[in-house]
Amino acid sequence: MPTLRQKIEQEIRERGPIPFSRYMELCLYDLEHGYYSRNAEQLGKAGDFYTSSDVHKVFGRLLARQFEEMWRALGSSEHIDLIEFGPGRGLFAQDVLDWSEKKFPDFFYALRYVLVESSPALRARLNETLADRIKSGKAVCVKSTEILSAEQIGKGTTSVVPNRSQKQGALAPEVPTIVFANEFFDAFPVEVLSTKGSLRIDARDGRFVETWAQASPEELEFLDRYSVHPEALERIEAHLAAKQFMDRIAANIPRGFFIAIDYGYTREEQLAGRHRGTLKAIRQHSISADPYEAPGEQDITADVNFTALAAATERQGMQAHKLVTQSQFLMGIGEANQFADAFEECRLPQERAKVALQLKHLVTPAGMGESFQVLIASKGVGQEKVSELAGLSFGRDPTRE
Ligand SMILES: C[S@@+](CC[C@H](N)C(=O)[O-])C[C@H]1O[C@@H](n2cnc3c(N)ncnc32)[C@H](O)[C@@H]1O
Repeated sequence: MPTLRQKIEQEIRERGPIPFSRYMELCLYDLEHGYYSRNAEQLGKAGDFYTSSDVHKVFGRLLARQFEEMWRALGSSEHIDLIEFGPGRGLFAQDVLDWSEKKFPDFFYALRYVLVESSPALRARLNETLADRIKSGKAVCVKSTEILSAEQIGKGTTSVVPNRSQKQGALAPEVPTIVFANEFFDAFPVEVLSTKGSLRIDARDGRFVETWAQASPEELEFLDRYSVHPEALERIEAHLAAKQFMDRIAANIPRGFFIAIDYGYTREEQLAGRHRGTLKAIRQHSISADPYEAPGEQDITADVNFTALAAATERQGMQAHKLVTQSQFLMGIGEANQFADAFEECRLPQERAKVALQLKHLVTPAGMGESFQVLIASKGVGQEKVSELAGLSFGRDPTRE
């Protein structure tokens, strides 16, 4: 079987130099050798990176609290679909389902949890981890192609979720929906631009080499609207695939909320000189200088352009709300009961001290609190209901940024 390097070289021989986004797509999602396809072990504390749910269950518990409040803002509907994109190993889903069942039984009764995962290896793992939830019909696990078809774009009248009474893949009539994505958009392939144009990857003498092609009108429009143009020696990413995917998600939310949590920035921050070139390869918890080394064995990410995501939600009839940091968001949800969700099982002072440190890591600027941002958008929900959401209570006003 050819290696991923050989596969990419073959594609370059057939097509000529490929866009960086295609190279990144193959490295992450090639069905045999892609980083997310090979096996599910790279994720988590022992792997290349860990996410908030690896730190402590309180992340999912606080979000369960926020989802329940959103459900009430949507009129405590008989059914609600919570759709998580890129659930990975499903830790977050488990925490949300367990906590909702324990603390918010009415919400849990109305809830169906839809896991949308592109990696077959991770879907297999989700089907095992959440076997009981899936068997009881509380959760379903699907590919994004099963729920986001191109024909639906712009109609906005059908839910993205499979019909409760039918097999997976069919569309439901309007059911309020909460879409959630944690560290999802940073794993989308990006275009890379410099003053020389748009990055292409060529193969020579067994090595990948960078060449440049003229930037496309779409890439230039992306920079004009949502980002900045690169200066000499700079590289700037254009998130065309993420923008398109966001359009599709937002178009398919009939009524409800969208929440994305990720490393990211706004155009204003780029104009202030920050986040100009954020592409990284990550292996064994350290940043690798070379995205062309060991294709498929290292993660490749780019910080999320929240200005482009927010604009996509608004194009599809949603209202994007003030961006908050993960610190502000979690503090807003947890302060009312002094983060009791974190300490529920602690019996001894040492246990409380350990959990307090984990919570601190999620919330403080030195941990994940300031590097992660939270974008919330809503459709068909009154402004006063949205502004009462606990997670937005510490927010800043984007018009004053
Ligand atoms: C960085 S991981 C984040 C995992 C998880 N959300 C967490 O916080 O631990 C990104 C996940 O998104 C999945 N993914 C990427 N593109 C996708 C797509 N188009 N549809 C569904 N899942 C996708 C990847 O396979 C991977 O599981």
